[in-house]
Amino acid sequence: MATVSITINGIGVEAEVEARTHLADFIREHRNLTGTHLGCEHGVCGACTVLIDGAPARSCITYAVACDGASITTVEGLEDDVSAELRDAFSREHALQCGYCTPGMLVSARDAVLRLPEPDDREIRVLLSGNLCRCTGYVGIVRAVKSVVADRRARGIAPADASGNPLGPVGSAHPAGRLTGGARGGRTTHVSAPLAVSARRDSRPLEEWRPQVTIEQRFIVHHPPEVVWAFLGRPEEVAACLPGAKLVGTPTENYIEGLLRVRAGPIAAEFAGSAEIERDVSHYAGMIRGRGKDNRSGSATRGEIAYKLSPEAGGGATRVDVTVGYTLTGMLAQFSRSGLIRDVANRLTAAFATNLEARLANGSLNQLPPVSAAELNVVTLVMSVVRDRIGRLLRRMLGQRKGT
Ligand code: FES
Ligand code: FES
Repeated sequence: MATVSITINGIGVEAEVEARTHLADFIREHRNLTGTHLGCEHGVCGACTVLIDGAPARSCITYAVACDGASITTVEGLEDDVSAELRDAFSREHALQCGYCTPGMLVSARDAVLRLPEPDDREIRVLLSGNLCRCTGYVGIVRAVKSVVADRRARGIAPADASGNPLGPVGSAHPAGRLTGGARGGRTTHVSAPLAVSARRDSRPLEEWRPQVTIEQRFIVHHPPEVVWAFLGRPEEVAACLPGAKLVGTPTENYIEGLLRVRAGPIAAEFAGSAEIERDVSHYAGMIRGRGKDNRSGSATRGEIAYKLSPEAGGGATRVDVTVGYTLTGMLAQFSRSGLIRDVANRLTAAFATNLEARLANGSLNQLPPVSAAELNVVTLVMSVVRDRIGRLLRRMLGQRKGT
């Protein structure tokens, strides 16, 4: 159990919570604020969306203990004029039927109204794409949001933030000042300086771009550095070791194009993109810089992977140090936050290392069956991480009981 101090709808709350309690359960069961709904509890449907320090966030994938010191606003606390106008518009435009999605919709819609200057239907649909509605077909919802924006702009009310700061759930980009340090910065991921412009609109040259999240990984391959180095110079084989990755076209020594298939619950994305490769044989070091976009979900990613090989075990093995920096925006960005992403990255690295070992041990690409999964299933990875964590927690608790 841990003690947390959270402000909910302007009221300070101090409570004992179990480490595994997510914010939505805390809000509903400890505070009886049942306006926050739970649909999938996987971070996919958006029904549980609340404001954490002013930014929309999934309360089902946010631990209550991670919100110590934060200010939470639930649908019951949406008392400003924008929320009132949205409630009227939702009723007027028939933007709800069963109402299950409505609390989360209102939180996200408020973000849109406050910050989009003059959105068209498509922009509103993209913004609300992290909130699933099972009943209305979205037409009324889009109409309601559009009418509130139009009415406010007609009254001369400018968007609160027209500077290009990212919209959407926390983690869909890097809201300035929200993720640095503290619980929401995560203990295991290093979050670099805030981005002034979201990657969705980011046309800055690569040398000026700074990643939103940086993760460092390390693994050992039981083959000499020169063998591993040669392998990493063959893009087809490297791609075959990465779950969900596939090259398209003919790769050159310093340029590749490819696809990365990702599935997160009902969301399936296929990122198409390209990357530039630099290799420095004198230091056994390399850099891959790329970007990709999934047109269907509007998710976009930009990233760089730096790696360095060092001899181990007298040169018979190789230590591979990898630093991955990336920015992810759009629907899939909800999975780019919290310590879970670090664990997912660990598993991906382990899968890559195992595949790489297998390739090096068994011969050339053509003689082997494909070793990469057809797509990267984020939910399966996250759930396996969660299962492991709960298992560890239970083992610790049982161990403590035995010892008492
Ligand atoms: Fe949280 Fe579905 S219940 S996203
Ligand atoms: Fe029923 Fe949206 S109104 S899920």
